[in-house]
Amino acid sequence: VNTSNTDYIEWFRHAAPYINQHRDKTFVVWFGGEAVACKNFPKIIHDINLLNSLGIKLVLVHGSRPQIEEELKSHGVTPKFHKQRRITDAESLNPVCKGSATARMRVESLLSMGVTNSPMQGASIKVSSGNYVSAKPIGIIDGIDHGQTGDVRSIHTEAVLELLNARHIVLLSNLAYSSTGDILNINSQHVAKACAINLCADKLIYFSEEQGLLNSSNDLLREIDTQYPPEKIAYSQRELFHAAKHACKNGVRRTHFVSHQTDGALIKELFTRDGSGSLISQQNYEKLRPATLNDIGGIQDLISPLEESKVLVKRSESTLSNQIESFTVLERDGHIIACAALHIYAAAKMAELACICVHPDYQKDKKGNLLITHLESIAKEKQLKELFVLTTQTPHWFIERGFQKGELTALPTDKQQRYNAERNSMIFTKSLS
Ligand SMILES: CC(C)(COP(=O)(O)OP(=O)(O)OC[C@H]1O[C@@H](n2cnc3c(N)ncnc32)[C@H](O)[C@@H]1OP(=O)(O)O)[C@@H](O)C(=O)NCCC(=O)NCCS
Repeated sequence: VNTSNTDYIEWFRHAAPYINQHRDKTFVVWFGGEAVACKNFPKIIHDINLLNSLGIKLVLVHGSRPQIEEELKSHGVTPKFHKQRRITDAESLNPVCKGSATARMRVESLLSMGVTNSPMQGASIKVSSGNYVSAKPIGIIDGIDHGQTGDVRSIHTEAVLELLNARHIVLLSNLAYSSTGDILNINSQHVAKACAINLCADKLIYFSEEQGLLNSSNDLLREIDTQYPPEKIAYSQRELFHAAKHACKNGVRRTHFVSHQTDGALIKELFTRDGSGSLISQQNYEKLRPATLNDIGGIQDLISPLEESKVLVKRSESTLSNQIESFTVLERDGHIIACAALHIYAAAKMAELACICVHPDYQKDKKGNLLITHLESIAKEKQLKELFVLTTQTPHWFIERGFQKGELTALPTDKQQRYNAERNSMIFTKSLS
């Protein structure tokens, strides 16, 4: 982020929609023990403090691999793994607990900071950890007893929600307890995933060594959906990608991957349009595309109730078929659920937005917005200077989207001549420059 004074002000203003969008949402944030140990970690905590101040409900989940390795070493215990999974035998348990506690205390202590002249000044964050994850041992795999290595059994969702509603940050770790009272060492990434699914979190965020998710050629994947082929993901990140996919398919709206090494990566990801890392979302079943003649029936079904109530002008089948190339439709599972037309007046460098309609079952989900933003970008690509729209019953909707009341004389001449005085529509325009 450029910190020159005016850039800073502009950046802050541009962040406003994201601030509104994220307020009161629940984010589950995972970071490994590597992140906890890294130089940038205090800055990550400052950014987490900022999210907390902006009214985001946070569950933090930490790992502690390097901290455990260090404890094992100092206790003279050889680390044991089977298929990359740690075996927590009797002699490893104490070092595992100590390693996890070291990581947890670092997180808690940094979150407790409130030093004057630091970003934590006045923060006064309440952090809660406890028995919110119950676990079960994974048992014997390939004949090998994994001891107190476990898996998530359930999350005490109600208790976590109560804390989040009371504005506590909930801190979970790689340690959980079983119904027999044992301590189990579990994969903290799985804890984060299970917690995000159980809470129906709006976001699951994984901090990673890399800038985000990389493909097999090490290029950053900025935005993908759950259909992305796992074999195209960098090998070392495939397991995490599966976790993200599983979360997205089970109710988590979005999973993000951001770097724990880059200062401000989390803020950039959440508060700028271009982000900094990777975003995975549920496969999009909706498709915005140019209409074809085959869509005429679907468009008619959608708009005819509005033609009857005179919200939209009546269009005959032949008019629709003549204008079909101006139409964009939003298709969902083979049905047209929204449409809009862009009629271009090339000589006047203007375009008319027309026939904007979203099926009542799908309204209030920004599909109308999506359509006009899309048409606006087409008009910009065609180097047009201005959009206009004629409406009888939807003026405020357009005003809220940057349109201003205009006069008939502002329209292209041929449109002026065809203006239906009886309908008496209001005219709205929007400059594209
Ligand atoms: C107008 C329309 C396209 C908006 O579609 P949408 O996908 O619901 O739009 P968005 O989700 O982007 O915006 C929804 C917001 O617009 C508001 N809105 C809907 N119709 C409105 C109207 N006539 N006047 C003012 N605001 C309106 C909704 O109340 C909602 O606001 P809220 O979230 O604050 O409650 C849709 O309501 C529709 O198809 N209406 C009937 C056809 C029509 O009027 N078309 C325009 C003809 S020129």
